Amino acid sequence: METKSFVLKGNICYSVSPKEVSCTEGGYLVCVDGASRGVFAELSDEYSDLLFIDCGDKLIVPGMSDIHVHAPQYAFRGLGMDLELLGWLNTHTFPEEAKYKDLAYAERAYGIFADDLRRSPTTRAVVFGTLHVPATELLMDKLEATGLITYVGKVNMDRNSPDDLVEGTDASAEATRRWLGDVAGRYERTFPVLTPRFTPSVSDRLMEQLADIAREDGLPVQSHLSENLSEIDWVKELCPWSTCYGDAYDHFGLLGPKTVMAHCVYSTDEEVDLLRRTGTYVAHCPQSNAQLASGIAPIRRYLGLGMNVGLGTDVAGGADLSMWRCMADAVAVSKLRWRLVDQSLAPLSTQEAFYLATAGGGSFFGRVGSFAEGNDLDALVLDDSGIRTPRDLTVWERVERYVYLAEEGGRIDRKFVAGREVDLG
Ligand code: GUN
Ligand code: FE
Repeated sequence: METKSFVLKGNICYSVSPKEVSCTEGGYLVCVDGASRGVFAELSDEYSDLLFIDCGDKLIVPGMSDIHVHAPQYAFRGLGMDLELLGWLNTHTFPEEAKYKDLAYAERAYGIFADDLRRSPTTRAVVFGTLHVPATELLMDKLEATGLITYVGKVNMDRNSPDDLVEGTDASAEATRRWLGDVAGRYERTFPVLTPRFTPSVSDRLMEQLADIAREDGLPVQSHLSENLSEIDWVKELCPWSTCYGDAYDHFGLLGPKTVMAHCVYSTDEEVDLLRRTGTYVAHCPQSNAQLASGIAPIRRYLGLGMNVGLGTDVAGGADLSMWRCMADAVAVSKLRWRLVDQSLAPLSTQEAFYLATAGGGSFFGRVGSFAEGNDLDALVLDDSGIRTPRDLTVWERVERYVYLAEEGGRIDRKFVAGREVDLG
């Protein structure tokens, strides 16, 4: 479909706030030039010339934003889930990432990743590559071709890394500049994001250089923060000058509303305040935090403080790209946290998880993640007829069931990103 102006008719549901969803049975979602004009119970004559797409009894929801995922780790997902973070990185992750020096391997691996992401519920993603510039450019080419909108990072690592996955400090900064030069203006939908892996992998000197690049070019940043207790202890040793782990990034000016920090499981009061004041995005990755036995982030607290929060699959800490599963896991781990850790923080509801997966993470990309007038129109048309039940369900109940049972019989019928249809074939 060429046009970015059309009307979708169906059962429409989107978040208007963390606690409130708007549902319209048999409603009309109007898209003009890729942007939403809103959802209506009746279609005004004004839009009668637009292409009309009748989705019948299907569900129409916003596309999902996966704001933390590692493309090179897709190749070993589901394997090696018997270790905690630092052991898992050394044993499984770093040896896999070193393979992306070989472009033929990257071609095969990133082909599979891009293909599966295209067909997933994700319309936007914030993606880690590896430290290799050619493989990262190849990944960007492949993601551009999917029609999704993504930020992609060439990773920086200049310390505490294996010999076949490490750069010199100046060489890392230079490679980053070279990569940024190569990709400038090359894509419509694929953008660079600076990616210091995490403090243990990046020296102070390199952080400084990356912060200079971020400032010069107004670039977004992604990294990891307070995921695991041993990692946090290590950062205290590596940066004795820092007042908390978050300060080890903030000191260089790397936090802000264009930064995503994955995890934030053990953030201290000071660190939470830093994240809140700077508007930094927290990528909550519940499956990864469970599989790597990292812990459970207090997302209820972050929402209560009005912080920017979205969801991430963190493949291969998480085993799959399903944002449905990510939502269900976010709810499940919040219940365990409430039961076992802190009864003052109520569990997340499915509405809140839906908000995080759509509007919460989507806002990192601008006006994205809901069907409010003026937002980019990212939408999924969902066929839930394979998830059988004798009951009559409301639109929201159908969405809620889809979150939990998508893999059983759900099917994404159509997918739109900023009004442009994605080929699901
Ligand atoms: N911290 C540093 N690198 C990684 C990674 O690849 N995955 C996760 N989950 N945490 C990290
Ligand atoms: Fe990660």
